[in-house]
Amino acid sequence: MKIFFSASEVAPFAKTGGLADVVGALPKYLAHLGHDVRVVMPLYRGISRAALERHPQPLGVPVGWGEKWGAVWEGRLPKSEVPIYFLENDSLYDREGIYGAKESAFGDNLERYAFLSRGTLQLSKLLGFVPDVFHVHDWMTAAVSIYLNTWEKETPWGKAASVLTIHNLAHQGWFPKDELPTLQLDWSHYNFLELEAYDKINVLKGGIYHSTCLTTVSPSYALEIQTPAFGFALDGVVRARADSLFGILNGIDETIWDPSSDPNLPANYNAEDLSGKAVCKAELQREAGLPVNPNIPLIGMVSRFDKQKGYDVLAEAIPRILGELDVQLVLLGTGEYWAETFFGTLSHHHPERIQAWVGFNPALAHRIEAGSDFFLMPSHFEPCGLNQMYSQRYGTLPIVHAVGGLEDTVENFDEETGEGTGFKVYDLNADSLFDVIGWAVWAFYQRPGQILAMRRRAMQKHFSWDQPAREYEKVYQKAVRRRTGLK
Ligand code: ADP
Ligand code: GLC
Repeated sequence: MKIFFSASEVAPFAKTGGLADVVGALPKYLAHLGHDVRVVMPLYRGISRAALERHPQPLGVPVGWGEKWGAVWEGRLPKSEVPIYFLENDSLYDREGIYGAKESAFGDNLERYAFLSRGTLQLSKLLGFVPDVFHVHDWMTAAVSIYLNTWEKETPWGKAASVLTIHNLAHQGWFPKDELPTLQLDWSHYNFLELEAYDKINVLKGGIYHSTCLTTVSPSYALEIQTPAFGFALDGVVRARADSLFGILNGIDETIWDPSSDPNLPANYNAEDLSGKAVCKAELQREAGLPVNPNIPLIGMVSRFDKQKGYDVLAEAIPRILGELDVQLVLLGTGEYWAETFFGTLSHHHPERIQAWVGFNPALAHRIEAGSDFFLMPSHFEPCGLNQMYSQRYGTLPIVHAVGGLEDTVENFDEETGEGTGFKVYDLNADSLFDVIGWAVWAFYQRPGQILAMRRRAMQKHFSWDQPAREYEKVYQKAVRRRTGLK
């Protein structure tokens, strides 16, 4: 099949979260299965043109009241032959930040991602590439599916199927309705089934309506987003398309996240010989300025400082955690200002107990995954989550709120049998979070044999992309059959 991926971030070129990891990896696995896969994203500031090739023709993209012009740069996804195209338009993309500066989104994001979405179609024409499937991701490229049913309806591209992956239903692309002309869509599409929600434009809603098939990134999340508790006001819209929605767990890049060869670590290790993990722990304690002591459990956490990730609950629980448990904490994150300040101040006051690094630092993220005993993810919701899979591969037992992908990828500790690969809390609040951390700390001190067995079991689990890539292949086939009327 010919498959065209369009996404707002792709690792290693630009990344704010797991979306980039997914779009950086899945196309390569599909290529291994023999498909012709290509990827397109914006040329943001910071992406070096040095290794890229510029296409001779400019690209005209109809947006707003006219047309915006850009250039196309071509490269390859690292360690692969998969072509990746970068759309250049400096007025839209040459600035600090991907979606916004600090906590506020850019005011022209509708135009920036209309350019990417419509530009995806313009590019496929420039290349003469008529895909069987456009695979689009989150609201930022959801409009591709709308254009296939409108502007492209009568062209060869209009026969292509579209698959929209929802990585996070919390982000929907809400805009004031007077911005509709930016999308160059007729007002007839501004209705309660397509683009209108609560008197505003909702780009994701339009994408959900117009895409041939929908996927999301774990089976549990596929069910959760059909409920008001996790639906962010679109649960009804998702339910209406339940027969076209598939939950496929993300994989991880097992070559990058491999403790036996990870170049970011002070020592490497594997499930048979964990001695290197002890070195990683000691080095991490040293780097964090914490007392170097193998006998104190060390809990790590790496993520965006965002409401989704449960930092508010951790902030509420932390006085009890520090007051009543013999434990050390290392945090790495960036995002909401209150969290950066709160956890930064806390580590200033308790330097022997907690270190909070503010920043985005992939190498340090690897060292935290390896050097910690436990990995904390008290997310309110988590469509998939990658860190709990990384941490299991590193023998670092996740402590998670049992939602979405966290529910699907972590097995709870059983004190009777010693089974499990992590610790789960089912009803998240400050007390229950304290309790589950206390349970893990208790097991660390009282059940060292079981903890060691859990580490080994976790490290032997497989989270590769091979299986998910085959599941996507099936969804593409289904989408093509539906689009061509074969069902
Ligand atoms: P989300 O996409 O919701 O942020 P995921 O768990 O899917 O959550 O993916 C997050 C990715 O971003 C992981 O690869 C994680 O290691 C990385 N990451 C998040 N915050 C940081 C940070 N401050 N420094 C380095 N890597 C980070
Ligand atoms: C989103 C979700 C995260 C998921 C990632 C990749 O950012 O928050 O849970 O792992 O997308 O699909």
